[in-house]
Amino acid sequence: MTRVRRALFPAAGLGTRFLPATKAQPKEMLPLVDKPIIQYAVEEAIASGLENLVIITGRGKNAIEDHFDISYELEKILEERGKSDLLDLVRAVSEMVHIAYVRQKEALGLGHAILVARDLMNDEPFAVLLGDDVIEANPPCIRQMIDIYDRYQVSVVALMEVPVEETTRYGIVKAKQMSNGDEGLFEIADMVEKPPRDKAPSNLAIIGRYILTPSVFDALAETGTGSGGEIQLTDALRRMLANERILGYKFRGKRHDAGDKLGFLQATIEFALKNEELGPAFRAYLKSIDLDKI
Ligand code: G1P
Repeated sequence: MTRVRRALFPAAGLGTRFLPATKAQPKEMLPLVDKPIIQYAVEEAIASGLENLVIITGRGKNAIEDHFDISYELEKILEERGKSDLLDLVRAVSEMVHIAYVRQKEALGLGHAILVARDLMNDEPFAVLLGDDVIEANPPCIRQMIDIYDRYQVSVVALMEVPVEETTRYGIVKAKQMSNGDEGLFEIADMVEKPPRDKAPSNLAIIGRYILTPSVFDALAETGTGSGGEIQLTDALRRMLANERILGYKFRGKRHDAGDKLGFLQATIEFALKNEELGPAFRAYLKSIDLDKI
């Protein structure tokens, strides 16, 4: 029996949906209230017991490495000014965990980004977390999926039902619910990346959480460009289906699409409302707004 110990965070994308904000700043560093988007996924992996974290970066992404590193100057200044609360916050980020970085030299797609990290995955099953999908869940979404991997020892992708008109934005699966009483588990028969609406095999979309067996790397190496002219993970998984099972899992939890402007705003509002410090004042402010006057 193999165990999932490693996690990959692809963060090399160009962030075109948030331009011009992402011209000189990685989209992974845009804050949801007071934490950069990518930190939510990193904290989810840590809370799920994953020990070896690898972030795939690219040009212009140095801020991500700096964020999880020690900031001597900032710590010194906070210390001198007696700002111990802030000092603790800043230190907690760099003390969280050891993270390795690998660079994807060209933005050739999610599938290609994962292939770049092949040597660091040590021929073991691993988790993939896409930071754009921020998921509130208890136990954390990726933990729920590791538990499924532990039982079945096959790749698992997270699934969620989406409105039919949104199927063009996701990897969509053809799948059958498993009949052995396992709640939320699907046997995947096929999948397609961002299909035109009339070609979508269902409204079950792949959400950015995966547990993958190492055979995905051979499949990725054989996968050519697909949707959007990029090497797609979905196409490689489809290829794997010829040789091995892949399960779909409708996770328990709430997913926010922080990779989309509207989703990002919605997540910001919900997280701000739940924030211990800001919540009450922010709630009062929202209630006071006369929406017809803005
Ligand atoms: C990626 C995957 C897609 C998946 C989506 C989930 O697409 O390629 O299959 O449905 O993440 O968020 P992206 O949103 O990066 O274009």
